Amino acid sequence: MPPNTGWLAMVAIVWLGLLLPPLATSQHQQSASSPPSGQLRRIWLQDHCNSGICTNVQIGRNDYVILSQAPIAKQLMLTFINSSIAKIPKLMFDTFPDLQVLRMENCSVEAFERPQFEGASNLMSLFLGHNRLRDIPKNIFLGADNLATLHMEGNQLKQLGNHSFHALKELKELSLADNRIEHLPVGIFNGMRKLIDLNLAGNALEALPRGIFDRNLNLTRLSLARNRFTAFESELLKLQPRLSLLDISGNILQELTLNFSLLELAVAHSCDLRRLTIYGVVQELDLHNNSLRELPHVPQAINVTSLDLSQNPLGNFAAGTNPFRRFTALQRLNLSATNTHELNEGLFKKQTQLQMLDISANSIYSLKITIFDSLKSLQYFYFQQNNWNCDFLQLLMSSIVKRRDISFMEDVTPPELVDDYVDGIACWYESDKLSKKCDGGASSDAAMELSIVRNEIKSFTEMVEKKFIKVYRMLDEMKMRL
Ligand SMILES: *[C@@H]1O[C@H](CO)[C@@H](O)[C@H](O)[C@H]1NC(C)=O
Ligand SMILES: *[C@@H]1O[C@H](CO)[C@@H](O)[C@H](O)[C@H]1NC(C)=O
Ligand SMILES: *[C@@H]1O[C@H](CO)[C@@H](O)[C@H](O)[C@H]1NC(C)=O
Ligand SMILES: *[C@@H]1O[C@H](CO)[C@@H](O)[C@H](O)[C@H]1NC(C)=O
Ligand SMILES: *[C@@H]1O[C@H](CO)[C@@H](O)[C@H](O)[C@H]1NC(C)=O
Ligand SMILES: *[C@@H]1O[C@H](CO)[C@@H](O)[C@H](O)[C@H]1NC(C)=O
Ligand SMILES: *[C@@H]1O[C@H](CO)[C@@H](O)[C@H](O)[C@H]1NC(C)=O
Ligand SMILES: *[C@@H]1O[C@H](CO)[C@@H](O)[C@H](O)[C@H]1NC(C)=O
Repeated sequence: MPPNTGWLAMVAIVWLGLLLPPLATSQHQQSASSPPSGQLRRIWLQDHCNSGICTNVQIGRNDYVILSQAPIAKQLMLTFINSSIAKIPKLMFDTFPDLQVLRMENCSVEAFERPQFEGASNLMSLFLGHNRLRDIPKNIFLGADNLATLHMEGNQLKQLGNHSFHALKELKELSLADNRIEHLPVGIFNGMRKLIDLNLAGNALEALPRGIFDRNLNLTRLSLARNRFTAFESELLKLQPRLSLLDISGNILQELTLNFSLLELAVAHSCDLRRLTIYGVVQELDLHNNSLRELPHVPQAINVTSLDLSQNPLGNFAAGTNPFRRFTALQRLNLSATNTHELNEGLFKKQTQLQMLDISANSIYSLKITIFDSLKSLQYFYFQQNNWNCDFLQLLMSSIVKRRDISFMEDVTPPELVDDYVDGIACWYESDKLSKKCDGGASSDAAMELSIVRNEIKSFTEMVEKKFIKVYRMLDEMKMRL
């Protein structure tokens, strides 16, 4: 504490023409648990900052802070690290009138001052992620007329009102991810006509009110991932012709219909999806970890370039059917962990542009080599963690993978479960009897059954291992408590 606070206050009044709050009040607010707060303090930021990076700045909830003797011009960007700043100092934008970018992430910011952004008309980007903000008071952003980017992810925001973002008419990018928001009022985004990118992932939203985006006609990227939606209606975004990225992963949706004119990327993984229909054009589709037993219904399949169906219980595609026949522009296809035992010969007949195919983590024992005839563009082929027959695997390696110089990935199966490896990929030999019986043919029912049993043993072992890990963890926890 400086010896003469009265003198300091005078300085502040002289160069800022501002009145300080009465000291008595701030000292009165001082709580017993935070003794060093409630002071008038001078923190010369020049002493803490070097080329815009400021470290070890400590500001308490009730401190009234003076940052510099005179305004500091031409400071465009400030980043605070290893700092504990309960609130953005009131004089921030008077001290740094040219500030365009303020990064105060992970600084334990608890609340806004009022007024907070007076004089912040040069501020373009504000990063307040991973702090302790609980709410956004009405009209708090008055003064930040040109703010274009606002990040407030990882706070404790719960209730937001129509006027929380009032004055942010230039905002293009807003992240409210990983807060505790349960609902949003219909007018909350009304003032943000230029909004392009909105991230609401990781909250507790169950629904959005109809019309909530009706003024955000340029909305292009929207994430609603990891909320509590049980339904989603494309209707909500019917006025947004530019919407090109939609992420609704991690909501339990089961049945979903999307209808957009052109989605470059739709992400709907981990939704327990059982049925999916997509009207309009979608280019990349990430559907991993769902409950799909059949391919999504996509009338414009012709425009899909990337399809991730991994970790879905698709099973075998019946012989003679070709569910991929209309996906003629596919460049990437992920069928990893889809409970597949075999791939029928004509399955990839139309995938002449496919560059990446992942069939790893299935129970495939062998393939018809002719399946590769149409796969003329294949560069990456991932087929590890299957039940390959060693003789077939040799053939696959020499006649296709190595001959065409295709990239692949080695196996992680522990050696005690494996007969042999071919170029790092696990495989098993048939017993003599079996190979005689099936007369050199690559696939036989008996061999396949064997490989299924092997797979069941594998997953059983994995399950038992997981249970043991859990038990060990519980024991550890009990030990800790004792
Ligand atoms: C921030 O703190 C961490 C841990 O105390 C330290 O390793 C790091 O060097 C500090 N960074 C700066 C820029 O002071
Ligand atoms: C956040 O700040 C604390 C204390 O300054 C530090 O220990 C921690 O590593 C930081 N976390 C991240 C993700 O930067
Ligand atoms: C928020 O604004 C919308 C219109 O923009 C209005 O219908 C609604 O009643 C307002 N809600 C509150 C709580 O003021
Ligand atoms: C929407 O985007 C277009 C094209 O970038 C732009 O011309 C238009 O001004 C934007 N509208 C608003 C309200 O920002
Ligand atoms: C999809 O949306 C378009 C435009 O909004 C509409 O014309 C069309 O009927 C919709 N299609 C379906 C199948 O709902
Ligand atoms: C898969 O999705 C389920 C929801 O269906 C979720 O609970 C689980 O955490 C997801 N698993 C992974 C590995 O993402
Ligand atoms: C969809 O595919 C068709 C046929 O290849 C093509 O003519 C059309 O331009 C594509 N549309 C988009 C939006 O990519
Ligand atoms: C395919 O999906 C699996 C499981 O989701 C993932 O681990 C793997 O990285 C994906 N393959 C590629 C090539 O992206």
